[in-house]
Amino acid sequence: MAYESFARKYRPKNFEEVVGQETVVRTLSNAIKLDRLSHAYIFAGSRGLGKTTIARIITKCLNCENGITDKPCGRCENCVEIEKGSFPDMYEIDAASNRGIDDIRSLKENVSYSPIKGRYKVYIIDEAHMLTREAFNALLKTLEEPPPNNLFILATTELHKIPDTIRSRCQTFIFRPPSKTQIKDYLKRILEKEKINYEEEALELIANACEGGVRDAASILDQAVIYGGGEVNKESTQELLGVIPEEIQKDFMKNLKDKNLKELVKIIENLDREGYDLTVFWNQILESIHSSLLSLITEEKESGVFSEEDVEFLIYTNDIFKKALIEARAFHDKKDIFQLAVLKLRFMKNLVSLEEILKNGIPDIKKEKKTEHTEESFDIQKAVLKIGKEAGGIVAGALKNASIKEDEEGFTILVDKTVADLLKDKLDIIGKYFPKPVKIEELEIKTERKKQKKRDESVDKVLELFQGKIISYKEE
Ligand SMILES: Nc1ncnc2c1ncn2[C@@H]1O[C@H](COP(=O)(O)OP(=O)(O)OP(=O)(O)O)[C@@H](O)[C@H]1O
Ligand SMILES: [Mg+2]
Ligand SMILES: [Zn+2]
Repeated sequence: MAYESFARKYRPKNFEEVVGQETVVRTLSNAIKLDRLSHAYIFAGSRGLGKTTIARIITKCLNCENGITDKPCGRCENCVEIEKGSFPDMYEIDAASNRGIDDIRSLKENVSYSPIKGRYKVYIIDEAHMLTREAFNALLKTLEEPPPNNLFILATTELHKIPDTIRSRCQTFIFRPPSKTQIKDYLKRILEKEKINYEEEALELIANACEGGVRDAASILDQAVIYGGGEVNKESTQELLGVIPEEIQKDFMKNLKDKNLKELVKIIENLDREGYDLTVFWNQILESIHSSLLSLITEEKESGVFSEEDVEFLIYTNDIFKKALIEARAFHDKKDIFQLAVLKLRFMKNLVSLEEILKNGIPDIKKEKKTEHTEESFDIQKAVLKIGKEAGGIVAGALKNASIKEDEEGFTILVDKTVADLLKDKLDIIGKYFPKPVKIEELEIKTERKKQKKRDESVDKVLELFQGKIISYKEE
């Protein structure tokens, strides 16, 4: 026997089996019980939330051989045929392929006939927003003078494309994604019926990945069972979904706390090599920095590996990482951009120790935003823009991430060694847009040397990195 997907196999056969959609289910089943069903409904909502499913359930409710009911038997010939999609009084019209006036004309004609087998004819118009204007107009006439024993259900993923004239003649239900808990329970129900072993965390991952879509949840589950070799475990599901393992995230955060930059660079390298989407990873990291900050600042409590003394470091890390994310979206070399962002944190060590100096009352340095790195007359951002046009986006990206220092001799551009050669290659072009001679230096070498230098050098670095200036000094 051919393999039947979970979505098909577990398509709800009655209202009780529907996941979420409480308002829709309740209103419709009451309307059926009270004989107050409207003659036309719009079911609006994103894919795989149960629009077609519920339309079929109503068809059963109205045509079950045991009488009109909100609990159709599911066993009589009519119920079975409706489930199979072969019931002659249920018309499933795909407006995406039958958008025209002729299709609606034949529907109009059909409307005047009495049902063949059941009590009600039900027209389920899928993707209703795809109908042409003429088709809508023709349909409107029918909706204005509805012949008895006909029910129209217009299903759409794009409610705003349904003309107001139609909308005002229908009762509209908005289908909303069920909660994660509801989706997890739904998956559990399937797995228990199938007697398949699972790990709770794997279901959590699927519930996150399906973005509220019930059909999507079921099809991810199909894949997860196969991928997991007959069971649904966390590890293989993670792999299947390309989710970055939690351990790696935790490892990253721990090394971030310890400012173990080499390790951070390595983690990014490895993830990239294993084919993970680095942007997804970066987003997860930003999210966890954000939530750490939030609980550190608002609740004043430790968060994961971080404590109060890390707040300032996290704020700046957040800034730098966010900037990197924006750049990564625009450039190809995401790995480079993220690794560079990490390397930039090296200068922050000095910031933290500076804070300590501040506490001890030595120099008082305030950070203030300034739009330019150097003298007023030279606009580096404009220069980078021009260089980018001539030398390409990667060069511009590398420059944006670089630390640029100016002295009497000219400019020194400090970059990670992965892009240093690239910049050196384009030095001709870069040089054209700087007012003074330009030198490219590798960040690694520079920072090694820096260790032995005096503290006020580090003040310069901080100023440079945050584009700040010294406002005042406190006397010792
Ligand atoms: N609310 C739900 N409860 C339980 N299962 C659901 C629900 N919604 C969708 N499903 C599952 O997803 C499958 C597809 O659902 P359905 O065809 O009703 O979605 P739809 O909203 O009509 O989507 P589309 O807009 O793509 O037509 C069903 O076979 C069922 O297994
Ligand atoms: Mg549908
Ligand atoms: Zn029945």
